[in-house]
Amino acid sequence: MTDTPAPHTGPELDAETLRERALAALLAARERTAALTDSVDDRELTAQHSPLMSPLVWDLAHIGNQEELWLLRAVGGRDALRPEIDGLYDAFEHSRASRPSLPLLAPAEARTYAADVRGRALDILGGAPLHDGGRPLERAGFAFGMVAQHEQQHDETMLITHQLRSGPAVLSAPEPPRPEGATPPGEVLVPAGPFTMGTSTEPWALDNERPAHRRDVAAFHIDTSPVTCGAFQRFIEDGGYGEERWWAPEGWAMIREHGLSAPLFWHLDAGQWLRRRFGVTEPVPADEPVLHVSWYEADAYARWAGRRLPTEPEWEKAARHDPASGRSLRYPWGDEDPTPERANLGQRHLRPAAAGAYPAGRSPAGAGQMIGDVWEWTSSDFLPYPGFAAFPYREYSEVFFGPGHKVLRGGSFAVDPVACRGTFRNWDLPVRRQIFSGFRTARDA
Ligand code: AVJ
Ligand code: FE
Repeated sequence: MTDTPAPHTGPELDAETLRERALAALLAARERTAALTDSVDDRELTAQHSPLMSPLVWDLAHIGNQEELWLLRAVGGRDALRPEIDGLYDAFEHSRASRPSLPLLAPAEARTYAADVRGRALDILGGAPLHDGGRPLERAGFAFGMVAQHEQQHDETMLITHQLRSGPAVLSAPEPPRPEGATPPGEVLVPAGPFTMGTSTEPWALDNERPAHRRDVAAFHIDTSPVTCGAFQRFIEDGGYGEERWWAPEGWAMIREHGLSAPLFWHLDAGQWLRRRFGVTEPVPADEPVLHVSWYEADAYARWAGRRLPTEPEWEKAARHDPASGRSLRYPWGDEDPTPERANLGQRHLRPAAAGAYPAGRSPAGAGQMIGDVWEWTSSDFLPYPGFAAFPYREYSEVFFGPGHKVLRGGSFAVDPVACRGTFRNWDLPVRRQIFSGFRTARDA
């Protein structure tokens, strides 16, 4: 997969550089979409692998339809290519469970539609004024960056569908790097004080990351790496799933109702924990960050360990705040774009790297693997920052604000760099476990 870092702040980059970045981001996203949809046959593309997910062919045409809405119609002022299909691919009109029964475009038709939209979008990109004075959608190429991020987000969604499908493996990737030297997982102290949360300058940051604002944070300790499978196994073996006192009431109800006793995709075989990962069954690796846990499981583990989940401001301060300059960095390691030495991103590997990997990616506070590997649950509800303004549509963030959704930060191995930065915010229901979710813990200082 080709990495497509987002551009630095607008004024530093001229329109031609932004155009090249936008083009590269769109092409890389389509290359990944093709790899995810060409690796299975038409029957698998139209099948529902889980009621939690859409058929892959829905994601494919939805990617094209969103690109048509934002690049062809909103930026380009073009008429709808196929107005009759808009409703089918509106994520709010039909639940994921109901999508297989819709009269969806067949695989060949969906591919042709997405390619047709793309050809026209590239024409529009070629002539769009990307300078600072333009319309907000075009400024610094925002709409093009947003559409590339949207496609990459659905590529991660499609990778989740791949993880849920049964049958032999169809995807492969090299193993992630092993940690060099033995830095055992530990914790670091983040001293009390204000820091800058969010951004007002990152040109392709989405509405919920804006605006930059000051937050005061009390002193806390945070894990230097995400909680590992081995540590989580000790929670299981200590009877963690059977003891109500560790669980939030709704979490306890969830594990009782569904009889849960381990992360999703794990099972016990003759006393050994095994897991299924993209069609392969393997021993659970003790030193790898745990994946496929719900917020409730992360919260229960933390309580069992005598700790707690970090709040969202704590997470971001540990990831971005640079005490030397007083500034917040774009990424934990600095302002430079992600590289394979700094973070496990972009589906370059099909799993997280072991805890302690990527020493070059550590934050000034000393926290590692804050970007890439696993999405990290925080204790916080998904809420707007002070001064939030929905842009360009309410259904991206605003309709999800409230106590129903918990924030995840940092991005998994399945997130492309274009859709990942120190300010990026993801969210989901606290019961969700098919996502590439893990966590780290914290405590008051
Ligand atoms: C930000 C990952 C929660 O997949 O539901 C895709 C991204 N929004 N299409 C999702 C999104 C519209 C969103 N998440
Ligand atoms: Fe979408």
